Formats: sequence, structure tokens, C-alpha cells
Amino acid sequence: MATTSAQVDLRQAINAVSDVIQNRPLPLREFDQIYMKAGDMVMQTSIIAQRFADRKLVFIGDGDSISLCLAYLMHRKVISEGPSEILVLDFDQRMVNAITRFADDERITDRISARLYNCIDPLPDELMGKFNAFYTNPPWGASNSGESVKVFAERGMEACGPDAVGVVVIADDSEVEWSRRVLYETQKFASEHQFYVQEMQPKMHAYHLDDAPDLRSCNLFFRAHPDRQPAQRSYALHGSRLEDFYGKNQNLRVQYVMEKERVDYGKAPSETYTLQILENK
Ligand SMILES: C[S@@+](CC[C@H](N)C(=O)[O-])C[C@H]1O[C@@H](n2cnc3c(N)ncnc32)[C@H](O)[C@@H]1O
Repeated sequence: MATTSAQVDLRQAINAVSDVIQNRPLPLREFDQIYMKAGDMVMQTSIIAQRFADRKLVFIGDGDSISLCLAYLMHRKVISEGPSEILVLDFDQRMVNAITRFADDERITDRISARLYNCIDPLPDELMGKFNAFYTNPPWGASNSGESVKVFAERGMEACGPDAVGVVVIADDSEVEWSRRVLYETQKFASEHQFYVQEMQPKMHAYHLDDAPDLRSCNLFFRAHPDRQPAQRSYALHGSRLEDFYGKNQNLRVQYVMEKERVDYGKAPSETYTLQILENK
């Protein structure tokens, strides 16, 4: 039987991840929605499941759907451990609804839920310090020296109380100057917020990214300093932190991406094809 390093049955794992992939909305490139490739999703799910076992885990954005992979693979007993509770915060209602629909269908709403949230807004009071692990695969901050990474990571940190851990998934290529700059800035930022780097897993994941198919991301794992005082309040973002958020001249100016209602959800949209009818039938 083929297995990953965590002794996961590969056939079962890939089939389950494929169910999750089938459920993902099409990515919007302008908001840096660029999906992780299937094999790397299997590995990532297995790593995060072990790493954050029994933790209350918050995702700040999750187009990749690693959150759903965790909950679903646990439910299907493909993995034997994982987070006890998962909340996904995302500004794209298509992501939120896709997770909610899937979780309803598979009866895993006790383990995973999703909610609309834009990280420019203060974190809602009821979420402050309620988790003890965060996960984010943010916009990679190529054009703003990692400011967008810091924004996503900061919301994850705010959502975490004592004994917090977290992972930031960002570009890792030593040939790409902005990637080195962002890695440095992210670690510096974490340290200023009383988190230290526990481990870096370099060049772990590949993406469906046409213009840079070889660009990989790393797992940058953080742990809180034992004396860290969890944040008491959150605040709105403004000004320079919103500039070049998704790339050069692509400022953050959208509150939410809202889903259009469709009766044929899950089917190919009828405007994407025509039927040529057989003659003499
Ligand atoms: C920015 S993408 C990063 C690439 C990642 N591989 C993906 O496609 O999910 C991660 C997630 O962040 C969400 N996102 C983008 N901007 C956001 C914002 N301002 N607030 C909250 N979520 C946001 C996207 O909808 C997406 O699901």
C-alpha cells in the first residue's frame, strides 16, 4: 500500500482530497487565489493534522481548502488525528458557502465552519483569543515587502490565546529577491509580536500558477513566547497597509466577493457550452 511519511493510505487520501478539489470555486487571480496542487494538499493535510492535533485552529483565508481536507480526512478516518475545531475566515462568500455546503452534506459541521470576514476589519470580539492555532496562506506580498502577509498573520495571532502556534505559507525561492525579503520581514514581524520560528519546511508546495510554475512555498511554523500577552483588542486597517496588497497597483478595495445564486450549482454553467444535435434523430 502506498503511504505518505505519516502512514496515510495514498489512494484513500487522494480520492478524499479530490472530493474537496471538486468543491472549490474557480480561483480569482486578482485576489491572489492560486490553488495548491493535489499531491501537495495531501502532504500538507497530513503535516498540519499531526502538528495541530487537538488544537482549535483558525484559518485566515483558505481558497486551497486545506481546512476542509483536514475535517473530511478525519471524518473518513484517512487520518487518525487532527484539530478538534476549525473555523475558516474568508472575504469570498463563494469559499465560505462551498465549505458550509460540503460540511453540511458530509455531516462534519461539528468540526468545521466558515464565516465571511475581511482582514481589513477588526477581528470580531467573540473570536479574540478563542483559538490556539492559526493557519494562513496569504497574498504573498511581492509588491509591498510582505505587508499583506503581516496583515493575515496578525489576524491569526489576535485570534489565538495562550500557548499559541501558527503556520504561515509563503513563497520560498532564494533566486527570487522579493521572496527572501518577505521571509525576512515575516520572521521579524512575528518576533515583534512575541512569536518565534519553530521550524521552516522549505520549498514544500507547488501551485497552479501559469506565470511562475516553479515558484514554491514553505511552511513557516511559529510558536508564542511563553510570556506573550494575547491581544485584548483588534483594530481596522487603513492607509499604506492596503496598497499593492495583491500585487503592483492592486490595492485592497473590495469588502467581500459575493456569490451569485445558481440553481445548477456543481454543474458546468450553461453559457460555457452549446449542443450540436445529431442529424436525422
Ligand atoms: C489570498 S489567497 C492565497 C493563495 C492560496 N493558495 C489560495 O488560493 O487560497 C488565500 C485566501 O485569502 C482570501 N482573501 C483574499 N483577500 C482577503 C481579505 N482581504 N480578507 C480575507 N480573506 C481574503 C482569498 O479569498 C483566498 O481564499
